[in-house]
Amino acid sequence: MKKFRKIGVLTSGGDAPGMNAAVRAVTRAALARGVEVMGIYGGYRGMIDDDMIALTSREVSNKITLGGTFLYSDRCLEFKEESGMQKAIETLKRREIDGVVAIGGDGTFRGATDLSARGIPTIGIPGTIDNDITATDNTIGFDTAMQAVLENVDRLRDTCESHARCNVVEVMGRGAGDIALNTAIACGAVAAVIPECPFDEDGTIEKMIKLRREGKRNFIIIVSEGVDDHSERLAKKINDLTKKLSEDEKNPAMWIETKFCRLAHVVRGGSPTLSDRLLATKMGVRAVDELLAGKSDLVICEKAGEIITVDIAYSQVLDRMYKGTLKDGMIDKFNEDQINEMKRAIEIKKQQFADTYAIMNEVAG
Ligand code: F6P
Repeated sequence: MKKFRKIGVLTSGGDAPGMNAAVRAVTRAALARGVEVMGIYGGYRGMIDDDMIALTSREVSNKITLGGTFLYSDRCLEFKEESGMQKAIETLKRREIDGVVAIGGDGTFRGATDLSARGIPTIGIPGTIDNDITATDNTIGFDTAMQAVLENVDRLRDTCESHARCNVVEVMGRGAGDIALNTAIACGAVAAVIPECPFDEDGTIEKMIKLRREGKRNFIIIVSEGVDDHSERLAKKINDLTKKLSEDEKNPAMWIETKFCRLAHVVRGGSPTLSDRLLATKMGVRAVDELLAGKSDLVICEKAGEIITVDIAYSQVLDRMYKGTLKDGMIDKFNEDQINEMKRAIEIKKQQFADTYAIMNEVAG
């Protein structure tokens, strides 16, 4: 088996709280096994530009509490080109880096697969606030982002209550409604608008009017950014419709004045939660174990509380199947059992969304 003397670690794509905790865990686990670690700056860009630093145990001290990524991040287009990739590989060879741990989302894993295919063993760790890697129950940063939404929306609720208003809050998540749905429940929202479940817009507005008649003052609606152009339009609709109602009824209290708020990158920063630090640490250590055991092209996942590994190709096809973006031939290398397993995993995830959405609606009021 290949003897590992030095490995590289990088963070790539949108940063996520807990990435530093993962880099720390990778570093400490590798050093404990007698392997040197190079921190690669700016994701795959640092490989191309030979921009890296030797990570000692002290170098990663005090990083577990930090948001963002001290190795910086980038979505490196040059690395997608063969020429860029070859430059990256030359750097790794010159630096005598035997393997890489890449922390990020699906774009990062594509890069990991490219490196693996070119003889550089690479393991992926899911670090993204979106939680949109279907193979894992949780990605690093997801919990912290939800906590940040919760804290901010709690503040919005205070002012909504004072002024008897509604706030439509758009949250990140790319194409995934995980952040929006969970935080809608935790924030006591009257509704969540997510790509995974149909939204009854008129029914929601009727419900809000009924609740206002009963004396409810504040309303929160959480909208996932994955639902195109919905938030601002919805805020205006509620505002205008209830304003007209209040005029028709000559009852100012029936106007649910509605404001719009996009939390955007605010929820991507901040100190990682306990769960994210723990997940990042477990995944970081496991990534090193897998790499040193001679494995490559895997993504470290968490399923039902267990840390497991999944082939990156499997994880990517599963994602595409879930999102309905499979292209011809992509599934061909998988056997019937694997395909059925993927279908089952997707059914479970869809059902979980539907169940959680139903719970949210049931308790909203
Ligand atoms: O993938 C993480 C994420 O924050 C998404 O939620 C969001 O759609 C996107 O990245 C924003 O990207 P950028 O930071 O490049 O604006």
